[in-house]
Amino acid sequence: MSWFGRKQPPVVTDARAGDAAGLAAIHASGFERGWDAHEFERMLADRLTIAHLSRPGGKGAPTGFALSRLVVDEAEILTVAVAPSSRRAGLATLLLQHHLGRLAAAGAHKVFLEVAEDNVAALRLYQRHGFNEIARRQAYYARAKGPPATAIIMELALR
Ligand SMILES: CC(C)(COP(=O)(O)OP(=O)(O)OC[C@H]1O[C@@H](n2cnc3c(N)ncnc32)[C@H](O)[C@@H]1OP(=O)(O)O)[C@@H](O)C(=O)NCCC(=O)NCCS
Repeated sequence: MSWFGRKQPPVVTDARAGDAAGLAAIHASGFERGWDAHEFERMLADRLTIAHLSRPGGKGAPTGFALSRLVVDEAEILTVAVAPSSRRAGLATLLLQHHLGRLAAAGAHKVFLEVAEDNVAALRLYQRHGFNEIARRQAYYARAKGPPATAIIMELALR
């Protein structure tokens, strides 16, 4: 996916405490149980958190973000989310590339995450970035409708 020729290509920057409400809005649109702005404020204030967001042309409300926790040389991606109107245009790919580069620069050697077995878009995204399945947790994610979904634990080695 190329952003060439677009009027307002996405600009990725570090996320700051003042972005908490914008990130909460995106998160709520992507998950059954959204994290509120206070949870994002708390996470963004934590020195172990590394978070990046995108804005069209670098302005206005965020359209997507990636947020991880880095402890020594192991990172866990806690969430990646893109606003529904900005999906399927390569934005999560752009964010994740940037985010993984920054995690590596900050000393991460391994990156872990968990994703629902039925989340086709996220699985595709992570597989394309080289993540491999290392474990499963049955009936891990409660669903408003239907049975709970299995969590897939994935790992990526950074060099
Ligand atoms: C998962 C999510 C972040 C993907 O964002 P996005 O900006 O649409 O992703 P991209 O456009 O960069 O696409 C990434 C890959 O996934 C594929 N993809 C994206 N949406 C898809 C869908 N609905 N079905 C199948 N494949 C999909 C793309 O084709 C692309 O694969 P490719 O590189 O082989 O072409 C977005 O759907 C989202 O926010 N979902 C809700 C929150 C969520 O589930 N986050 C992940 C939690 S672990």
